[in-house]
Amino acid sequence: MNILLIGPPGAGKGTQAKRLEEAFGMIQLSTGDMLRAAVASGSAVGQQAKEIMDRGDLVPDALIIDMISERIDRDDCAGGFILDGFPRTVPQADALTKMLVEKDISLDRVIEIAVDDDAMVTRITGRLTCANCGKGYHDEFEKPEVDGVCDKCGATEFNRRADDNAETVRNRLAAYHEQTAPILAYYKDRGVLSSVDGMAQMDDVTGQLKGVIEGA
Ligand code: AP5
Repeated sequence: MNILLIGPPGAGKGTQAKRLEEAFGMIQLSTGDMLRAAVASGSAVGQQAKEIMDRGDLVPDALIIDMISERIDRDDCAGGFILDGFPRTVPQADALTKMLVEKDISLDRVIEIAVDDDAMVTRITGRLTCANCGKGYHDEFEKPEVDGVCDKCGATEFNRRADDNAETVRNRLAAYHEQTAPILAYYKDRGVLSSVDGMAQMDDVTGQLKGVIEGA
């Protein structure tokens, strides 16, 4: 099964995609993670994307569409994938539709994680990940069991994203409402859109998502 998670920055797309990956075995395809890896490697794509991401703007559609098309062709996507952060504009949604027709792949469900913008700044500025295994945490909402030690791998170093500051978050939220929210209507018109309450507790959100996927 192939699904797409849509929601503003901080909605919980990454957190929930990882949980669904574990529950159902689909692969998480996060364009944000791919771009951050490109920035860290110093590749041409990374150099082009870095400044744009630091401002909280969207990188050019063409760059993202090629990146995701190549990624979907890899063998590990054959068992299903979870799109996280793509598409983010109507032209990207159109390109995805065309791409999936060409590859003879279906998009089974598009799920909106609906949240209140006001809560997203706190969620994002409190986010951190283990520097070793990448497990995600939050200063307030998801602390490690032992302070400063990753529950999963025991590492003691944590990272915060360069774009996770209050000013950039506001710009990312504005970009979401101007450029990404219109794709909800795009998928509603195609009869594949569902919505879950992303303001609920994380486990509750996971339960709602599982319900949508199992009912699809
Ligand atoms: P990207 O990495 O996709 O960031 P984003 O969309 O801004 O989303 P986030 O990763 O910030 O939020 P999330 O919904 O995954 O939240 P999370 O689960 O971590 O994109 C970054 C940049 O890359 C963009 O700004 C753009 O420049 C570029 N880019 C990427 N894709 C692109 C594209 N397709 N086109 C153009 N440009 C693109 O949760 C956040 C925190 O909240 C965590 O700490 C978590 O523990 C906590 N939390 C989660 N759920 C809950 C809950 N229910 N209750 C309490 N806390 C919660």
